[in-house]
Amino acid sequence: MPQVEETLHKIILGDSRDLSLIRDKSVNLVVTSPPYPMIEMWDDLFSSMNNDIQSNLKSGNTMAAFEMMHTELDKVWQECFRTLDDGGIMCIVIGDSARTVGGNFQLYPSHSRIISKMLSMGMSFLPSIIWSKPTNSPNKFLGSGTLPVSAYVKMEHENILIFRKGGRREFTKAEKPLRYESSIFWEERNEWFSEIWKGIVGKRQELVNDGSRKRSAGFPIEIPLRLIAMFSIIGDTVLDPFAGEGTTSTAAMLLRRNSLAVEIDENYLNRCRNNVNSAQNDLNRLIDERILRHSSFIMEKKNRNLEYFNRPLGTPVVTSNEQWITMNKIQDIHQTKSSSIFNAEFRISYCDS
Ligand SMILES: C[S@@+](CC[C@H](N)C(=O)[O-])C[C@H]1O[C@@H](n2cnc3c(N)ncnc32)[C@H](O)[C@@H]1O
Repeated sequence: MPQVEETLHKIILGDSRDLSLIRDKSVNLVVTSPPYPMIEMWDDLFSSMNNDIQSNLKSGNTMAAFEMMHTELDKVWQECFRTLDDGGIMCIVIGDSARTVGGNFQLYPSHSRIISKMLSMGMSFLPSIIWSKPTNSPNKFLGSGTLPVSAYVKMEHENILIFRKGGRREFTKAEKPLRYESSIFWEERNEWFSEIWKGIVGKRQELVNDGSRKRSAGFPIEIPLRLIAMFSIIGDTVLDPFAGEGTTSTAAMLLRRNSLAVEIDENYLNRCRNNVNSAQNDLNRLIDERILRHSSFIMEKKNRNLEYFNRPLGTPVVTSNEQWITMNKIQDIHQTKSSSIFNAEFRISYCDS
């Protein structure tokens, strides 16, 4: 059995519109969530990339501003395309934005704008996921309540768009056994490969109103955990060009993938570095929880004869592919010397299974 005993996680302060420090085709999976165009908290950031965005927002020319914001994101998608290997997958978590400008309320459909860009680059659009995140907020119904005709349908989902570069991935001889080790449980497959994900509580892209103007925009770790487990294998490299607090990197650490996190904002970058550095206990607990969930599933099935057994985890499993699953806990997180290019680099070692 090939071993992946260590993984490497690079956290880079930079602008992902230019990822020239990442080699062509060196990434196996992109998991990311960009700043959402037309969500107010990102106006300044987008305007710093193109002055015309600010003037269009001011003059109420919002569709022009929306398009210009996406033109900046397009540059990042182009770089992701270049760095992604053939058969590699790109998962983009994106919500549409609604906003009233100059008295005019409307929706800005970022998900369809991103799909158009991906198709124009030659990416294949794959069946995607609706992340349903119902809110209990009393303000969730927008508009005039029960009176026709000026209320708006409530917005309670985000899109997880999935694209592939080229045809199905081919695995090398060395990768084939790692692919089996990376299998997910049968019951996880049933839930994760379904069109609608429910029960994962989201955070909103908004300023936290605590006087510090601190921004909150991360996705819950369950999102990149599932996507990385579904669309990469142990030892792969996962890129997040909009790293934020580093949720994708921490999920990659847990699943024994390498990661590259690029972040433009130093405050976020520091949070990202701290999160990665201190993740060990939380991540190891997530492994226990995953195994526990599987045990509960097996208990429910106790009257059914399960013919397969996974030795590394010591548990019955439903299919033959699951026999080889391994989940190694993190033994140590070691920050290697920072270099001028990589703001921080962490080497993760794992316990034996
Ligand atoms: C929606 S947040 C991502 C949150 C992340 N998924 C997490 O869980 O923390 C978007 C992030 O992209 C960063 N960003 C925006 N434009 C960027 C660019 N051109 N290059 C690198 N980072 C960028 C923002 O500073 C922000 O931290």
